[in-house]
Amino acid sequence: MQTHEIRERFTNHFVETGHTEVPSASLILDDPTLLFVNAGMVPFKPYFLGQQTPPFENGLATSIQKCVRTLDIEEVGITTRHNTFFQMAGNFSFGQYFKEGAITHAWTLLTGPVEEGGLGLDPERLWVTVYTDDDEAAEIWEHKIGVPVERIQRMGMEDNFWSMGVPGPCGPCSEIYYDRGPEYGQEGGPIADDNRYMEIWNLVFMESIRGAGDKKGGFEILGELPNKNIDTGLGVERVACILQGVDNVYETDLLRPVIDVAQELTGTQYDAGSPADDVRFRVIADHSRTSMMIILDGVTPSNEGRGYILRRLLRRIIRSARLLGATGEVMEPLINTIMDTMTPSFPEIADNRDRILRVALAEERAFSKTLESGTHRFDEAAETLKASGVTTLSGEQAFELHDTYGFPIDLTMEMAQEAGLEVDMDAFNAAMEEQRNRAKADNKAKKMGNRDDSLYREWVDAHPTEFVGYDQLTHDANVIGLVKDGEKVTEVNQGDEVEVILDVTPMYAEAGGQMADRGRLVMGETVLNVGDVQRIGKKLWVHKATVQNGGLDLGSTVTAEVDGAWRHGARQAHTATHLIHAALRQVLGPTAVQAGSLNKPGYLRFDFNYTDQLSDAQLEEIATITNQAVDADFAVNTIETSLEEAKAMGAMALFGENYGDRVRVVEIGGPFSIELCGGTHVEHSSQIGPVAVLGESSVGSGARRIEAYSGLESFRYFSKEAALASGLASELKTPSEQLPERIAQLTERLRAAEKEIENLHRQQLLAGTGDLAAKAETVGAHKLVAVHLPDGINTGDLRTMVSDVRGKLTGEDAVVVLASADNGKAAFAVAATPAAVESGVKAGELVKTFGTYVDGKGGGKPDLAQGSGANPAGIDAGLAAIRDALA
Ligand code: ALA
Repeated sequence: MQTHEIRERFTNHFVETGHTEVPSASLILDDPTLLFVNAGMVPFKPYFLGQQTPPFENGLATSIQKCVRTLDIEEVGITTRHNTFFQMAGNFSFGQYFKEGAITHAWTLLTGPVEEGGLGLDPERLWVTVYTDDDEAAEIWEHKIGVPVERIQRMGMEDNFWSMGVPGPCGPCSEIYYDRGPEYGQEGGPIADDNRYMEIWNLVFMESIRGAGDKKGGFEILGELPNKNIDTGLGVERVACILQGVDNVYETDLLRPVIDVAQELTGTQYDAGSPADDVRFRVIADHSRTSMMIILDGVTPSNEGRGYILRRLLRRIIRSARLLGATGEVMEPLINTIMDTMTPSFPEIADNRDRILRVALAEERAFSKTLESGTHRFDEAAETLKASGVTTLSGEQAFELHDTYGFPIDLTMEMAQEAGLEVDMDAFNAAMEEQRNRAKADNKAKKMGNRDDSLYREWVDAHPTEFVGYDQLTHDANVIGLVKDGEKVTEVNQGDEVEVILDVTPMYAEAGGQMADRGRLVMGETVLNVGDVQRIGKKLWVHKATVQNGGLDLGSTVTAEVDGAWRHGARQAHTATHLIHAALRQVLGPTAVQAGSLNKPGYLRFDFNYTDQLSDAQLEEIATITNQAVDADFAVNTIETSLEEAKAMGAMALFGENYGDRVRVVEIGGPFSIELCGGTHVEHSSQIGPVAVLGESSVGSGARRIEAYSGLESFRYFSKEAALASGLASELKTPSEQLPERIAQLTERLRAAEKEIENLHRQQLLAGTGDLAAKAETVGAHKLVAVHLPDGINTGDLRTMVSDVRGKLTGEDAVVVLASADNGKAAFAVAATPAAVESGVKAGELVKTFGTYVDGKGGGKPDLAQGSGANPAGIDAGLAAIRDALA
């Protein structure tokens, strides 16, 4: 049975029994506790918590949710059942049926005959587990369903109590397992072997709410949920694995084709006796799909958060393919294949194929470059180590490869092994740990980085802030929360740095690239200066302020005032960003996808995915289109609508919103620019004022950045540039249009003059050295010219000089050594006549000897060699050593 059909049967089963079908939410939801949606219930969290009434008839829903779990990425391909992306099919009851309903529904679908819409699993092969003391569930399984008591096992907190891993809804669960047979492991049920007995469905009896902590250390149950609810999750991929009779979740109809393509690309066979290779194939299949699905939902590779996970997945694909023998690019056929297999279940892939491919390919190209330079760095290090007889690559070197070149440690280990080296893993891990600590400290320093959101949870849940700042800059508000030094307080006083939570605010909180408003909170004599506003969970506005005068109590009423000039500047910059985005797409085509932006009064930057550097002409065109749009005085309209409508309008929307969400569309000049955006904008484009595009640069692999000024800041910039040009023009006595030629001429003349000085200098030096050949002395069987020349002669000149002198001694067995201190370094060169070479002199060896006296090295051929060193004080000793060597 194809995966797509399993999905259909699941949905039909639950729709027929009164559940509302809910489409999968985006993998990216605005939940500060999650990088990716990792369970079917995540989008329903507010309904479980009783914060919102479930909008489903009968209080019942069913969904097949896209999920990503990357915690055990190292397990992928090693176990038979860990996918980083998977589909969780679930049914949800909000205060309706409970344990018995959930158990009955699951059993009917699993064991129902195929011809009647069921999945047709053999009931004899199904085992179940229940939470330690959940007699009620055990009772239902045994007496209502008829599962023999030997196949009902009890498990503890670790396995049979479910939560999202963070404070929130939770409850005991009951899991259904499928016995895959003796070839997969030992008898004894899920307690004995969770590979043979594969978990396929988890039924969670969601009834409590938990506090902070983890399973190991334990967490507190804070109380009961307002209702008893059901949340279940069936692993679609696992059921496919069983129904398709394949060994593992990587060989189902969705992933096996990727393995097949990988075989062609690498020339290596899957399932041909090498477990290590097989793991690599499975990693490629799994990661290709996960990468594709998260790019689909708007993630691009970066060094942080979701972007980093994507980068890691893509790099693991490339590395695995290389280890399997691929030599060229692999991404395109892999991603194309997975898009083909996934499209029947996710038709939106079809519209995004080009974009997805482009993101994956750009990362592949960028990584290939890093791989090259990293490999080069590794080879260098390996060579130096070997030359000095060391067999261990230090932790710092491995860390440098990881940190600077993006080498995963296992890649470094593989390469080290091939080169006959070990890696000092303890030191490497210590360096990693240190970096993590640094990152933690950084995060703490960052505004809302790693803060403990649980402090705000009560407010987020009970008093979301109402934002009125789209059309009002001043508003009265109640102080519903005060935080000082990370603790809730009831009053704040003059001089305090505080966080103020208001029930309503006109102040824009940092979001969508737009910096937060500045402003004041005023109550009589009391004044707080607001320097930043951050949003928690899109719902709660936290004003960071300094109490400038007076004091404030919880419950006071203040007037919140946005700094109008600040807001004016921020609006200009934000609307300008939309214009630049639109202009960019006109010039570069729709493949230039936004990757991030920042706008604040007077300044904006816009990052986008694009592999090539923009030409001056492209940049000029973007600037022109942008300023024409300003000049056209386009109306800026904002429209609240559904996501579907917004998409139909052609709004650029990469990050999928939660279904049912209202979205805000900002439209400028009709089709000129339509984007989903929650920011504040000017009303007419001419209010932006001029936009000065400063230039573009690279920001990491495959991404570029445009920076610009807006409004008065552009004027200041232009006027400064003009002043600069006119200053130069009068200094150089040239009209400003002719400055470029004039400066080019001057530079050219300067260059010529420098060259001439250099030549003269050299001639002078050479003249001062006199007839060097005449200084030949007899050393052993050889003639030797060994002279410490005046300072300032470089190695290249020395080379010419030793050859010249040697020319004068042709026919004799002669060696010429000349050295000079040049720029604080020792430069030296050695030449030997043919007769000297004949008698065994090696110039290359002599420079090496010399090198040891001046902390340097050198090399060359037996008749001519050169070198340099850090310590010119050793020159005379070096010359003496050569004299000794020849004697
Ligand atoms: N929420 C439950 C799980 O993820 C069904 O396993």
